[in-house]
Amino acid sequence: MVIVTGPKDSGKTALLREYRRRQAHGEFLGVSSYIDMREKPNVDPAGFAASLRGSMVDSMELKEKLGIEVLGANVEHCKGSASEDGLSMTMRWLESYCLERRHLVRPEQCSTTLVDAYKQGFPTIFIDEANALAAWHSLPDGEAQLEALFRFLVRISKQECGAHIVLASSESFFRRWLLSSAAFQGHGVSVFSVGHLAEEEAKAFMLERVPASSKKEAEAVWDDVFAHVGGAILNLHRVVRLAHRAVATGERLRDRWEREKKRLFMDAAYRVMEGFRPEGMRKVGVREPPKWKKDDWARLVKKMADSRDGVIAYDSLADVPGLDSMIEHDLLQLRAYSDTEREIIADEWPVVIPTSRMALHVMRIKG
Ligand SMILES: Nc1ncnc2c1ncn2[C@@H]1O[C@H](COP(=O)(O)OP(=O)(O)OP(=O)(O)O)[C@@H](O)[C@H]1O
Ligand SMILES: [Mg+2]
Repeated sequence: MVIVTGPKDSGKTALLREYRRRQAHGEFLGVSSYIDMREKPNVDPAGFAASLRGSMVDSMELKEKLGIEVLGANVEHCKGSASEDGLSMTMRWLESYCLERRHLVRPEQCSTTLVDAYKQGFPTIFIDEANALAAWHSLPDGEAQLEALFRFLVRISKQECGAHIVLASSESFFRRWLLSSAAFQGHGVSVFSVGHLAEEEAKAFMLERVPASSKKEAEAVWDDVFAHVGGAILNLHRVVRLAHRAVATGERLRDRWEREKKRLFMDAAYRVMEGFRPEGMRKVGVREPPKWKKDDWARLVKKMADSRDGVIAYDSLADVPGLDSMIEHDLLQLRAYSDTEREIIADEWPVVIPTSRMALHVMRIKG
């Protein structure tokens, strides 16, 4: 079981979708189910169950179309009742699908053919924006359904080794919330962090996409672009669009970028200023109102402004009242250590960082 974490718009969903796209084309073994918790029907347990099963069946069908036998699955039978089943029926179906086939790879029965066949159908369940499962807490019977789902996920993956589970979320406290559930007691979960791009990758990403005629201009503004947006892929996409528009309208890329920088600054400034008025802040999905005071935020902003590069060890901020609440309300990011982290350099983890490079610039002005 793996949690795919990382800041908003860093490419978590893109990564999962790319994996599934390649899997559908036969590049990767196995079948998978992908549930996007941002799709409204999935917030209801019955809708979630329909997506879980329907998506797994789609994946099986795609494999069959490629002429790959999906071991242990009667696809026609699965299709028949896909939309009717509730969560408990779906979990039972998936559990038997994942676990019944497992005996095929017990060492005493192992043959290369069986292992290969098993791998062809090895299932993965991807739950994207999995933090939205917390909304089940407020549904009648939702607590019990959530606990049952977590027990099922732990059972088929960590306990019985019959499936992979991948949970993606940008919520800073998702791991803590997940592991606080009774189903996870005594079980650890690996974290895979999708950070923003490192400088070289970010530069290559931009230069590959701008029109050939603006490459020189793009190189000239690069240092300023990276200083303000870093490797945040969505913002790099925006700069690429600016370059295309600049060519279309005959403007200079630098002029367009200066205007974009002002817009990014205003967005970041608005966000930083919100922190000084906690009483007015609300965030969907966060049940508790802000727990910090204006002066607490002012202290935090000062600490960020004084830091060398906006990376501060979480433990060293223990004296800032309401720190977790600031993170929950998206004024700051909490980032855990991951082998895959290339963007942040730190000696001590987890670390707290501003939500963007531009937010750090604003904090340096305000602090
Ligand atoms: N490797 C990539 N190459 C090109 N574009 C990418 C890549 N990764 C992500 N993107 C683009 O960046 C944008 C943000 O990506 P994505 O939605 O996957 O982020 P996310 O981490 O899932 O965000 P959120 O936390 O909000 O769900 C999308 O428009 C996506 O197409
Ligand atoms: Mg996403």
